[in-house]
Amino acid sequence: MTAQLVAELELPLLQTIGLERLDAIAAIEEARSQHWLARTDMGYCVTGLNDVTAILRDKRFHSALSILPQMSGLPELEEPSRRRKSILSMEGDEHARLRRLVAPAFTPLSANRLRPTMRAVLGDLIERVVGDGECEFVSAVCEPYPIPIICELLGAPPEDWKLFSSWATDIFRIFNGTLEQDLPLIDRASTELTAYVSDLISARRADPRDDLLSDLIAVEEEGDRLSTEEMAMLAQAVLMAGTDTTRNQLACSVAVFSEHPEQWRLLGRQPALASRAVEESLRYLGAVRATVRFAAEDVTYRDVLFPRGTIVSTSLAGANRDPELWIRPNEFDITQERGQAQMTFGSGIHFCLGAALARAELQEALPLLARRIPGLARNGPVEWKPANFGIWGPARLPIRFDAS
Ligand code: HEM
Repeated sequence: MTAQLVAELELPLLQTIGLERLDAIAAIEEARSQHWLARTDMGYCVTGLNDVTAILRDKRFHSALSILPQMSGLPELEEPSRRRKSILSMEGDEHARLRRLVAPAFTPLSANRLRPTMRAVLGDLIERVVGDGECEFVSAVCEPYPIPIICELLGAPPEDWKLFSSWATDIFRIFNGTLEQDLPLIDRASTELTAYVSDLISARRADPRDDLLSDLIAVEEEGDRLSTEEMAMLAQAVLMAGTDTTRNQLACSVAVFSEHPEQWRLLGRQPALASRAVEESLRYLGAVRATVRFAAEDVTYRDVLFPRGTIVSTSLAGANRDPELWIRPNEFDITQERGQAQMTFGSGIHFCLGAALARAELQEALPLLARRIPGLARNGPVEWKPANFGIWGPARLPIRFDAS
């Protein structure tokens, strides 16, 4: 049977931009009930768990991050030497080599080194509001939580946390959809961060410590080592991929718990449920709802031909609630053994490098919060960030709780 050209298929239209959270989920479910593939404003979208996994593991599809400027309507960027490739947009042997070299520095064991810092930072943030019985949770806790952890991971001292925070804000502008206007700010932040990290690397070469950069300097595999430039790129990728994600996920998780007070109580009483609470909230309401690929060559998948350049987004949110593979997917239940992995960290070669760290951050945060702010409830409506394919969650989450 010859493959059918994707443009010739009759497909449901899936538009989630601008929809409320539950409406977006309903739109995905509606599209999935008609076909495994949907048409979107950008290209196409797969919504079932098996298709999402297959596309993310298919090396003929590449990360769309490298073509983000073109997707935003910008011409090819003029100075390719200044735009170092990120691990997120590398492919093939280049990506495999880098992952092999850096993977040992991102194990659960190395994430565990940072657990005392996580507890201290979060404990300090929560102490500031615990007597008030209410707060706006995003600005009080989620925003400030991850930067100190990433700084500690890299080995940057507390006096520089503010600097990292402003670089992170500017570098995240890449996802704002206003790239043309933001490019100078993004480039400046990126150049300053690279210079800072390069200095830190020189310092660690002379005087190794118990941190990520010292680990990366020590890495050597069959004579292959990471260059200073590669380590600086990785530091930027970690800052970019590891702060806004964690912030938004913590806010998403607490927003969900505020709708399920009995499960919050249970977690407060049984901190051993932390790991399940984290996996279930990542599944039920993940901060990364989709990730985008493009066909790097003509690709035939499930008898459909995707011509080179076709954009295919993979709905992690859809995969996480695929009714064919999850039992009661629309129920939030931290006591249920789900039997398979949630998809919010992606799959395939770009599977989240910081998954162990993110899990540790959330596993430390949720039970501590459940114990320190019992009686969690909404104190007004949640203001959700506008839906796009980037990182998503509440912009404002007013909560109240039993003051202590
Ligand atoms: C709850 C928090 C997080 C979520 C939901 C998340 C999600 C993801 C997803 C979905 C991807 C794959 C993107 C794609 O396939 O296009 C990814 C990649 C990545 N993440 Fe995370 N992430 C989180 C936290 C972190 C943290 C804390 C770090 C810091 C170490 C981190 C570092 C990275 C890196 C470096 C990549 C690129 C890996 C590669 O391309 O090989 N992430 N993340």
